Amino acid sequence: MKILLINGSPKGTKSNTYRLSKAFIDGIGDVSPTEIEEATVKEMDLKSCLGCFGCWKSGNGTCVVKDDMQSVLDKMLWADVTVWSFGLYFFNVPGKMKMLIDRQLPLSMPFMVSDSETGGHPSRYDMSGKRNIVISTCGFFTAKGNYESVNAMFDHFLGKGNYETLYCPQGELFRVPELHAKTDEYLGVVRKAGAEYIQAGITAETREKLETPLFPRDVFEKMADASWGIEQNAAAENGTAVRSSEGFSFTRQMAALYNKASYTGRDKVLEMDYTDVGERFQIVMKKDGYEVLRENFMPFTTKIETPLTVWRDIAAGKISGAEAMAKKMYRVAGDFDMMLHWNNYFGDGDKPAVSADTSKTKEKGTNMLLMLLPWIALWVGVSIHSRIGSLVTIGICGLLQLLFARNRRTFYDGFSSAAAIGFSLTALLLPESVHLLLPVSYLVFGLMWCVSCFCKIPLTAWYSMNDYNGESAMQNPLFVRTNRILTLAWGVLYVLTAVWTYFLMGSEIASYIALINNIVPIVMGIFTKWFQGWYPAHFASK
Ligand SMILES: Cc1cc2nc3c(=O)[nH]c(=O)nc-3n(C[C@H](O)[C@H](O)[C@H](O)COP(=O)(O)O)c2cc1C
Repeated sequence: MKILLINGSPKGTKSNTYRLSKAFIDGIGDVSPTEIEEATVKEMDLKSCLGCFGCWKSGNGTCVVKDDMQSVLDKMLWADVTVWSFGLYFFNVPGKMKMLIDRQLPLSMPFMVSDSETGGHPSRYDMSGKRNIVISTCGFFTAKGNYESVNAMFDHFLGKGNYETLYCPQGELFRVPELHAKTDEYLGVVRKAGAEYIQAGITAETREKLETPLFPRDVFEKMADASWGIEQNAAAENGTAVRSSEGFSFTRQMAALYNKASYTGRDKVLEMDYTDVGERFQIVMKKDGYEVLRENFMPFTTKIETPLTVWRDIAAGKISGAEAMAKKMYRVAGDFDMMLHWNNYFGDGDKPAVSADTSKTKEKGTNMLLMLLPWIALWVGVSIHSRIGSLVTIGICGLLQLLFARNRRTFYDGFSSAAAIGFSLTALLLPESVHLLLPVSYLVFGLMWCVSCFCKIPLTAWYSMNDYNGESAMQNPLFVRTNRILTLAWGVLYVLTAVWTYFLMGSEIASYIALINNIVPIVMGIFTKWFQGWYPAHFASK
């Protein structure tokens, strides 16, 4: 497939639209071998059409102006697909690209055609089978109503219905590194559209995604206004604006992403203290919107002390918020919940500072109960009646396998079922060993936790990840560290349980063992819940 990309943006390869056009062509390349030629209008020696009709009068379609246009015409005749790529300028193509469009006159013959309502000229060359796609970004929140002039022009020279269009609003977002997660996702859809276009045409599903604006209007417009780094000059009467500080512009852009749906019935105040530039701002997150304060500060809910450069890098995805925190690049004071659910508060396109957006977990979750049940069945069942208890444990372990259709199985789930069945069979085959069975099973259970502390991902992390955006939480050093400590604590507890169970079994308080062994994990469970919240906050405040 021979493709000509005409990049009409005055920004050349820095063009927003160029990114889309490249993604689209990459998509074509995904399904068909491609040869690509680019005509970068900005770099071309391209003069205006003289209007002399020399190309028509000479009879051979040769333009009298000698510049780079002839090579563009040759490439147009060579290409199977021509991609017209440009940013919308005053509701049409940028000026130099219009010059290129005018200079196509040699491609047509002077004669009038009678089958056109508005008049037209026949093509000098056989252009049948050639395809065209018009790709453009524009600056407003929507493409609707902005491309009428463009459509009218291309309808006339390519023929109505003879070309495909891909118009993307909010084009300036493609240059914002902080939003690359969002814009890359869109570019992925554009790439898919390219693959579909060359096969059976862009599907309705892809078209719908392409037409969905990156951000809702109010979010986009606030973000766009803040991105210029200037503010209305209240003192001046007309037309002037003052430069705002980098920190203030950045905070305003961040605040624009505030997701009102995260409101929990109480206003929250996020304080950003940029230590490198010596500036402080507050984002007051309210039910119906937000406010950015640079004076008259309020008591903060959460305060982040960070160099602006660090927070910019986090927002741009150059470093994860969690990793930066583990490296002690910033500090957090106050309520830590905002850090854990950053994506809920600052919805689209931004990075979670620490982790966790439970609403987006799509993968099949693990379930700690499936790991614990075999052990609980064993300990309770065998204590009551060793033979029946063992049989019940084996039965429960068998039934558990059915539940894995709905849950993701971990190594520890499999190991626990196998160990519980092993202990139950031992109790059935060697009834005289039953008195040792309880302490040994506690020991094995405890060692399972202890050994897992030395693995890359500790045991509890496999289960608590469900609350922290699934397996991606494993990338968060603080999450892994918190879980490693908890896993070790539980492991040690059960190794100790094994020891005291063994020694107490022969003593006069033997009848209290079951009670003790049930109370201790409850206390430990309460500690775990508290520690999961306290430790990351404590670490972040350092
Ligand atoms: C001179 C000028 C005129 C523009 N006119 C429009 C316009 O009419 N409608 C619109 O939505 N955006 C307009 N924009 C915004 C651009 O279309 C937008 O920034 C686009 O993403 C630029 O694409 P590019 O980087 O590929 O050149 C204009 C920008 C400039 C510089």
